[in-house]
Amino acid sequence: MLLATTRKMRYLLLTAALLTLLYVYHDRIVQGAAYRWKLPINTGSTSITGEGEDFKWRDLAVKYPVESLQPLPTGEPKKLPKVQFTFPPENANEKSNRLSHQTAVKDAFSRCWSSYMRHAWMADELAPLSGGMLNVFGGWAATLVDSLDTLWIMDMKTEFEDAVTAAVSIDFSGSSSDEINVFETTIRYLGGFLSAYDLSRDGRLLSKAVELGDMLLFAFDTPNRMPITRWKFNEAKKGYPQFAHSSSLVAEVGSLAMEFTRLSQVTEDPRWYDATYRVMKAFDEQQELTRLKGMWPVVVNARDLNFTEHGTFTLGAMSDSLYEYLPKMHALLGGLEPMYEKMYKNAMAAAMKYNLWRPMTPDKADILLSGNALAPEGKFEGGLELQGQHLVCFAGGMFALGGRLFDDLQHVEIGRKLTDGCIWTYQAMPLGIMPEVFHMAACPTNALCEWNETIWKEDIMRRAGPKNMRSAETIIEEDRLPPGFSRITDTRYILRPEAIESVFILYRITGRKSLLDSAWAMFTAIQESTKTHLANGALADVTDKDSVTDSMESFWLAETLKYFYLMFSEPDVISLDRYVFNTEAHPFERLV
Ligand SMILES: *[C@@H]1O[C@H](CO)[C@@H](O)[C@H](O)[C@H]1NC(C)=O
Ligand SMILES: *[C@@H]1O[C@H](CO)[C@@H](O)[C@H](O)[C@H]1NC(C)=O
Repeated sequence: MLLATTRKMRYLLLTAALLTLLYVYHDRIVQGAAYRWKLPINTGSTSITGEGEDFKWRDLAVKYPVESLQPLPTGEPKKLPKVQFTFPPENANEKSNRLSHQTAVKDAFSRCWSSYMRHAWMADELAPLSGGMLNVFGGWAATLVDSLDTLWIMDMKTEFEDAVTAAVSIDFSGSSSDEINVFETTIRYLGGFLSAYDLSRDGRLLSKAVELGDMLLFAFDTPNRMPITRWKFNEAKKGYPQFAHSSSLVAEVGSLAMEFTRLSQVTEDPRWYDATYRVMKAFDEQQELTRLKGMWPVVVNARDLNFTEHGTFTLGAMSDSLYEYLPKMHALLGGLEPMYEKMYKNAMAAAMKYNLWRPMTPDKADILLSGNALAPEGKFEGGLELQGQHLVCFAGGMFALGGRLFDDLQHVEIGRKLTDGCIWTYQAMPLGIMPEVFHMAACPTNALCEWNETIWKEDIMRRAGPKNMRSAETIIEEDRLPPGFSRITDTRYILRPEAIESVFILYRITGRKSLLDSAWAMFTAIQESTKTHLANGALADVTDKDSVTDSMESFWLAETLKYFYLMFSEPDVISLDRYVFNTEAHPFERLV
């Protein structure tokens, strides 16, 4: 952990790094839509329809065929340690509380679903204030496909049937946008079809997953078989030569493996497993060659298959699910592919040393946050940006799950501290909702430290920058900063799932009862501040209750409300010993 004197420098370095990144990505981001690492951008949709109804991705010629396909690992799945806590029977009072909370969550979901059906049926998103619709994920009814398994899990079987019938009519030969985000298409659509299939065994869903899988394989049709992450799919349809990008976000390259593997498992066709195996093997081979050994930088060169060129390392935005998928792949494959355990352990050892930090809080809370480690040039120099992100809240669940799967109690405890960090942040904020990005003053080490108001105010002034004319007291008042927060860098809450995701996983793993209360407090706070007359809308500012916006991402129904619902379900509903969730909260059956 670094001393306070270097913080400003680190901040400047990060700004420089981010500016570079934004420069690199500017073109793609402005053409693209509101992808996972949100920039608040909206695109109109020009309709580019399929070139005739007969077009089938499967019939298109492959330019760079694979010489020999990597098969799925064979043999008896390993007997992995039990993940879930053995819950004792609940008493009548606990049960009625739980069920009333569960009903409230289901009501919230039903209301949004009805509005989607009425106002935005077959569109990617409902606009929850105006009642309009939005196509930002290819125009293939993202909310519909993303919600299928939630409908099933919430026992809305009539709605599920109608939704499946509609979903199988989606036309993947054309799109509302010229450029496809392969990662988002994989996690939301392919993940959505596969988990709805795993739960219902409705063969129509599997056929649809295969049809989509046939399309997505063409994003890998490059000389080195690395995927194109922002994909001009109309060019692919015309058979133009394609190359992977020299600057790709690492999460977009490195978290396609669960969906592709599951598709191969259920079809017994290895083409998809093969495609992502090659990618993950490259991560495996280069893990110790990066500037921060064990981790991979936010930006990688997929065109030249070089994952070592850049110098920002984080578990957060733009990297997140690369790490999340390591223990999850181990679970999905029944432990039969050893590289995932090795990659997980080495990556987490580095993250524990270089990314995790303890904020200084008035109540001396025993919590951790995860920031960005920086190595601007050459070797790793150990710079850490003391940032917190809502998105990185997934890491609590990842450590806890990894801790169980690999029998490491230290990881479970780190998962606990990271999850409690998110719970603490929710509670500290005026509306009980965590912002997208914030900064806090750090403890000198990750051990207990005393609260010191002077240090807090100094940090506020540092964050405010040299041109700032306001006093720390004025900033605290005007920016509504709770004690400990030096800056709320991005004030939005976009109906994200990561905090409740980790609360849910930690609860299933440890059985800690107070997590039920934490979850309920989060749910009521979110409902209170984001509810519109139709559904729920993202908040522009988590310190202002009148800042609801006209946006409802499909992950609100696919992830956030599903995790809240499962939190208040019996623990054997989607047991973590039987299922593993993709990064869009779609449960896949584990190989056991
Ligand atoms: C990757 O790029 C770095 C920096 O340009 C270079 O030093 C290294 O040799 C390259 N590695 C491979 C495997 O090409
Ligand atoms: C708080 O921090 C300031 C600045 O580092 C220091 O001068 C002061 O002694 C600290 N106060 C306490 C009570 O430790």
